[in-house]
Amino acid sequence: MDFRFTEDQLSIQAIARDFAQKRIAPVAAEFDHRGEFPLDNIREMGQLGLMGIEVPAEYGGAGMDSISYVLAMIEIAAADCAHSTIMSVNNTLYCNGLLKFATHEQKLRYVQPIAAGSAIGAFALTEPQSGSDATAMRCRGVKQADGGYIVNGKKSWITSGPVAKYILLFAMTDPEKGARGITAFLIDTDRAGFHRGKTEPKLGIRASATCEIEFTDYRVEADEVIGQEGEGFKIAMGVLDAGRIGIASQAVGLARAAYEATIAYSQERKAFGQSIGSFQMTQAKIADMKCKLEASWLLTLRAAWAKQQAQENGGRFSTEAAVAKLTASESAMWITHQAVQIHGGMGYSKEMPLERYFRDAKITEIYEGTSEIQRMVIARNETGLR
Ligand code: CAA
Ligand code: FAD
Repeated sequence: MDFRFTEDQLSIQAIARDFAQKRIAPVAAEFDHRGEFPLDNIREMGQLGLMGIEVPAEYGGAGMDSISYVLAMIEIAAADCAHSTIMSVNNTLYCNGLLKFATHEQKLRYVQPIAAGSAIGAFALTEPQSGSDATAMRCRGVKQADGGYIVNGKKSWITSGPVAKYILLFAMTDPEKGARGITAFLIDTDRAGFHRGKTEPKLGIRASATCEIEFTDYRVEADEVIGQEGEGFKIAMGVLDAGRIGIASQAVGLARAAYEATIAYSQERKAFGQSIGSFQMTQAKIADMKCKLEASWLLTLRAAWAKQQAQENGGRFSTEAAVAKLTASESAMWITHQAVQIHGGMGYSKEMPLERYFRDAKITEIYEGTSEIQRMVIARNETGLR
C-alpha cells in the first residue's frame, strides 16, 4: 500500500487549495449571509478544470482520477461547503452519470459545456412525496409513437435547479414495473414545459441554490433518453454511489477547517492563566476530533480507490461509498459541534466561521441518502437481508 499521491493528484490539490483560499474563503461568509449563488467563482472553477475533474479532455474535462476529485473537493469544502455542493453535483451526479451511461454524441452535446464550466448541470430524483423512498416517484414520462416522451410532474430540492442549463431527470415510464419502470432523461431548461419554483431558504449551504422544478407537457426527444427505457433507477443508484464519495469529501474538508481553527484557538485563548488547549477536557476533545477526521479521510480515499477499480475492472463500490459518507458526515457534525464549544461565545458569533461550519455540516447527514439510508445500504449488502 502506498500512501503517497501522484504528481497529477498533488497538482490538482494545489490548484484547488490556491483558488479556495484566495477566492472562496474571503467571500464565503458574505455569500452565505446573502444566500447568493457564487456564479463568477463557479465559472472560474470551470476554467481551472474543477467542474469536470474526471471527465476526459475530449468531453471538456480535466481527465483525472477519482482520488484527484476527492483531494480537490476537500480543499474547496474547507473554504466553503456551498461551493463544494455545486461542484459535487456538477462533477459526479451530472457529468460522471452521463459519462457512464450516455452515448458519444450525447456526451459531446451535454457533458462538454458542463464539464468545461460554461454552463451548470443538475440531477433530479427527489419529489415532494418521495425522497428516501425514491421509487415512489410520480413524475411521468409517456412514450410517443416517434420514440419521444411527454413528461409531467414535479421534482423537489434540486441543487443548482435555479441556474442549471441541463438536468439529468428520472421519471416513471411504466408504473406497474416499479423500480424497473423508471427511465433517465436529459432535460434542457430553456425549452417549453420546464418551470422553476422559488429558491428554498435553508439552514446551511445557503449559497448553493435549490428549488422545486415542474414539467408540463415537456417533450423529450428520442435521442435525449439516457441509457435504456426502464434502466433509470439503476442509473440513479449507480450515480449516487459515486456522488456519496463527493459528499464524504465535502464533510472531510469542512471538518478539517473546523479542526484547524480549533487547534489555533485552543493555543491562543487563555482561561485560568493557561491556554484552554492545555485543559485535559479540551485535549480529549481534540484527540477525538483528530481520530474522527483521519478515519473519515482514509475511508473516503479508500472509497475513491474502490470506485477507480470498479471503473477499470467492473463491479460495485456501494458499501465503500456508504461507509465513507456515513462516517464522514456524522464525524463532521460531531467535529463542528465540538469546535463551536471549544470557541465558547466566539463559536456562536458570525465574526468567526464556526457557526457556519456547524450549520453546513448538518446537510451532509441528509442529502444523497440520509444516515439511516446509508446504514440500510451497508447492512443490506453485509447481511444479504432486507
Ligand atoms: N447500483 C446499481 N443498481 C442498484 C443499486 C446500486 N447502487 N442499488 C440498488 N440497485 C438496483 C437493485 O439491484 C434493484 O434491481 P433489480 O430490480 O434488478 O433487483 C433495484 O435497483 C431496486 O433496488 P432496491 O429494491 O434495493 O430499491 P429500494 O426501493 O429498496 O431502495 C434505497 C433502495 C437504497 C433506499 C434507495 O431508494 C436510495 O438510495 N434512497 C435514497 C435516495 C437518495 O439518495 N436520493 C438522493 C437524491 S440526489 C441528492 O440528494 C443530491 C444532493 O443533495 C446534492
Ligand atoms: P424522507 O425520505 O421523508 O425521510 C424523513 C426521515 O425518515 C429521515 O430521517 C429518513 O432517514 C427517515 N427514513 C425514511 N425511510 C426510512 C427507512 N426505511 N428506515 C429508517 N428511516 C427512514 N434531491 C435530488 O434529487 N437532487 C438534488 O440535487 C438534491 N439536492 C438537495 C439539496 C438540499 C439542500 C436538500 C435538503 C435536499 C436535496 N435533495 C436533492 C433531496 C435529498 O436527497 C432528500 O431530502 C433526502 O434523500 C431525504 O429525503 P426526504 O427529505 O424526502 O426525507
